[in-house]
Amino acid sequence: MDVRVVDDVRALARDAAAMVAGVVAERPDALLLAATGDTPMGCYAELARMRQDRLLDPSRLRVAQLDDYLGLGEDDSRSLYAWMQRALLAPLDIERDRTIRFLSGHADPALACRMYDADIQAAGGVDLAILGLGLNGHLGFNEPPSSADSQTRAVSLAPETLESNASYWRDVAVPERAVTAGMSVILSARRVLLFVSGGRKAAILDRILRSEPDPRLPASHLHRHGDVVVIADRDARPGGALAA
Ligand code: F6R
Repeated sequence: MDVRVVDDVRALARDAAAMVAGVVAERPDALLLAATGDTPMGCYAELARMRQDRLLDPSRLRVAQLDDYLGLGEDDSRSLYAWMQRALLAPLDIERDRTIRFLSGHADPALACRMYDADIQAAGGVDLAILGLGLNGHLGFNEPPSSADSQTRAVSLAPETLESNASYWRDVAVPERAVTAGMSVILSARRVLLFVSGGRKAAILDRILRSEPDPRLPASHLHRHGDVVVIADRDARPGGALAA
């Protein structure tokens, strides 16, 4: 893994957006697999700014959801699709026909997952996966334990995920069930960008960097991938695994 440490969240957002823009310049109809959560928000805002300044042309860009909660109505503002719509799709003017989303309200979540996988495959696979790191080492909602070949599926969220996701929605309950692109989908992306920000992520990032691929730390499977860039801000810099 190529681990880059930058000064702060602003530098992280800038560097990450530059990398995304590089992928789009190379391949204007690239398919991004995009996380929500707090960490990528600066990058998405930076991409919107670049579009306004005509430094990025997302007119053919395609975006797939990484994960979502189960059991929410189509219009529930807690849905991660709604969040992605506000933070990324609307600012980049990416219409519905250039997105791949989970039908998380579908009566048969397993079937909805197969439809999602089929859409990813029909789109030619993921060019860039943009990921955040869970405090328990999850990627998407691949909670520990998750094997490298885990499929897109419905999952129960881990207690620490419920706790950290509660901060997104303050007084409203976090759904306990979710769907996630499997580790197999994430690892099949041509490139992976993992952002890590803040002191509370330093210990888990350190463990991931030191670990062999291990289902108990799903992000450690990224060691199997040949093209992973990790951008961490100084606060998230692991004390032991990285010197600088
Ligand atoms: C959300 C997602 C999660 C988050 C992770 C970190 O779509 O995929 O894996 O990336 O929980 O969340 P933040 O960035 O809020 O710390």
